[in-house]
Amino acid sequence: MVTNGGRRPEHFRAAVFCLGGGGVWGGEEVGRCRLKFFALPCSQLRRCVVTVGRRVAGVIMSEIPTNELNIFLDVARSAACEAGELLRRNFGNELEVDSKHAYDIKLALDRESQALITKRLLGAFPDHALLGEEGVDGPADSPFQWIVDPIDGTVNFFYGIPHFCVSIALRHQGETLVGVIYDPNLDEMFAVTKGGSPTLNGRQIRVSERCELADSIVTVGFAKSKESIDQYFERFKQISYQVRKTRMMGSAALALAYIACGRLDAYIEEQISTWDIAAGVLLVEVAGGVSRTVPRDERGEKFSICSSNGKLPLEQYYH
Ligand code: IPD
Ligand code: CA
Ligand code: CA
Repeated sequence: MVTNGGRRPEHFRAAVFCLGGGGVWGGEEVGRCRLKFFALPCSQLRRCVVTVGRRVAGVIMSEIPTNELNIFLDVARSAACEAGELLRRNFGNELEVDSKHAYDIKLALDRESQALITKRLLGAFPDHALLGEEGVDGPADSPFQWIVDPIDGTVNFFYGIPHFCVSIALRHQGETLVGVIYDPNLDEMFAVTKGGSPTLNGRQIRVSERCELADSIVTVGFAKSKESIDQYFERFKQISYQVRKTRMMGSAALALAYIACGRLDAYIEEQISTWDIAAGVLLVEVAGGVSRTVPRDERGEKFSICSSNGKLPLEQYYH
C-alpha cells in the first residue's frame, strides 16, 4: 500500500529505489528526500516514511510478498523435520527428565529440540525473535516472532505413545503468517501460509463438511492445572452427550492439524498456551475452519479455545 499525502511521484521513485536497493540501514538522503526505515534490514522493510525537509511526503507500506513467505515456510519446514528426526531417534529410549509436576512432565529433550529449532530459525533470520515453550531468544523488539513448541505431546512421548509433534509458527507484528506441524511418527508435515493453500505432505487439505454435532468427533484437552480440569468436567459431559465420539489425544497442535484435514471436527480446551496453538489456528483458518480463543490470564499467555470446521453449532463452548 502506498500513500503519498498528495506529493509528487519522484518522492516515491526515490523510496522505491531504496526498497529494492537492499542493505540500507536506518535512513538515507536521496536528493531532497530523507527516507526513514522501520524494520531493519532493508530486506525485511515493511514501512518507509519519506520526508522532504520536515514534511512527511509519503509512507510506503510493503506487503510481505508470497515468495518471502515461502522462504520462511521452507526454513520452518526443514527445522521441524530436523527436530522431528531428533524425536524419532530418541523415541523409546531412556529419557532424562528435567522435572515432574502434577499433570505434566518436562524432558531434557524438550530443551534440546527447541535449541535445535532456534539454531536453524535464528541462524537463517538473525534479527527475528523467538518465543518457545522452553524460553525466548533473539531481539525482543523484532516485528517477526517465531512461536515454537519443540515437542507437543511430551507426556505421550515419555510414555511411549506415538502421538506427538513439532509445531512452529511465524508472526509478523502479531499476525500469524506461517505455520508448520510435523508428526515424525507418521512422517506427516502440515504446512500453511497466510493466504496460501494448507497442505499435508504437499497435498491440499480442507476441513470436514460435517454440520451435525451428532455426526461429529470432537477432541478435548485437559490442561495442566486442577482449576482447568475442574472447569472442564461439566463441558466434557455436555459435549459427550451431543457428539458421536469424544477423543482426548494429548497433542493440541495435532488436534488442530486433524481438524484442518477433516479427520476431526472440533477441539475444545480450557487453558492452552500460544505455542500449542499458533500454527494450528492458522492451518484451521486457511483450511476453512474457525477458532475462538479467549484470554484466560492477565498476561495474555493462556487461552481457552474452541476450534472447528466452522459448520457445527458450538457457540455454547466459545467462552
Ligand atoms: C500439551 C498438549 C496437550 C494439551 C496441554 C498442552 P505439551 O502440550 O498439547 O494435548 O492438553 O494443554 O500443554 O506440554 O505436551 O507441549
Ligand atoms: Ca504443547
Ligand atoms: Ca511442549
